[in-house]
Amino acid sequence: MATLKDRIEEVRKAFEEAAPQAGDAKSVEELRTAFLGRKRGRIMLLFEELKSAPAEEKREAGRLVNELKVAVVDRLQALENGALMAVRPAREIDLTLPGRQRYVGRPHPLTLFQEEIERIFLSMGFAIEEGPEIETDYYNFEALNFPPHHPARDKWDTLFIKGDLLLRTHTSPVQVRVMERTKPPIRIICPGRVFRRETPDPTHLPMFLQVEGLVVDQGVTFANLKGTLEHFLRALFGEKVKVRFRPSYFPFTEPSAEVDIECLVCSGRDPDCRVCGGTGWKEILGSGMVDPQVLKNVNIDPEKYSGWAFGLGVDRTAMFAFGIPEMRYFYENDLRFLRQFGAK
Ligand code: PHE
Repeated sequence: MATLKDRIEEVRKAFEEAAPQAGDAKSVEELRTAFLGRKRGRIMLLFEELKSAPAEEKREAGRLVNELKVAVVDRLQALENGALMAVRPAREIDLTLPGRQRYVGRPHPLTLFQEEIERIFLSMGFAIEEGPEIETDYYNFEALNFPPHHPARDKWDTLFIKGDLLLRTHTSPVQVRVMERTKPPIRIICPGRVFRRETPDPTHLPMFLQVEGLVVDQGVTFANLKGTLEHFLRALFGEKVKVRFRPSYFPFTEPSAEVDIECLVCSGRDPDCRVCGGTGWKEILGSGMVDPQVLKNVNIDPEKYSGWAFGLGVDRTAMFAFGIPEMRYFYENDLRFLRQFGAK
């Protein structure tokens, strides 16, 4: 009578004969069922037999069945790969075709623009600071002279996270953080992301970028503010750019001014311009002399020191620098748009 060992050998031979015939995915699958199928697969039946084999045979036969199983699994895998390859059409390689261009990543236009702003301020002796995007009510509002329930908070509505944590509505809280930890003279800018309850349109987004600026020293005046910002905007847009200062209100500056730049999208010629609304001007920053109360909040003596600050809308200003009529383009991740900026 044939021993279990013989039958293992038989199955191995049968598989070796059948394997070369399996040329496509379907026959490979049939082969797998015939040999490894859970109920009637030939190798599985060998495992069944093994259970009742006499002890002296068991050890060696067990090893052989296992080896066979591993070999069959490997071979089936190789056959399957081969079958997959076979369905691909044979392709000739045409060496005369031009190579495929690979696109290399590059900085986002807003990053490039922010770096340009940083360069101009660094050249005037400013340092760069950063602050958290999740702020406390104290830094975003209280320390900047917005008492709880003050109506000025309405303009800066935002997402409140938990307790007194919120998504900062401007980069001005960094003013407070910097003044708390450094003594004057202070001359810093702070770029960063800010969040507000805004309905998106060509010049508003619920998330955008600002650059904050702060100067605190003895004898600092509004004339310094005006001269510095004018110099900055000329460096950015050229000597001829038209800029105007308008009186305004912020709880943390007194007096305050907003700065408009001529609409570089329509140059004031389109009464229906979606960027400037036909006025020919667009506000790009808020500024003013640091309110004495804000200095007191951080233990700087307002009798001795004075300061000025500004907050610039980066995305908006970038629209004019690049001549783009729509702020949302910056965030749509359309490569056709993004590839137009920076080095080729
Ligand atoms: N933080 C103000 C804003 O969003 C801008 C500002 C900054 C005004 C600094 C005055 C001084 O809109």
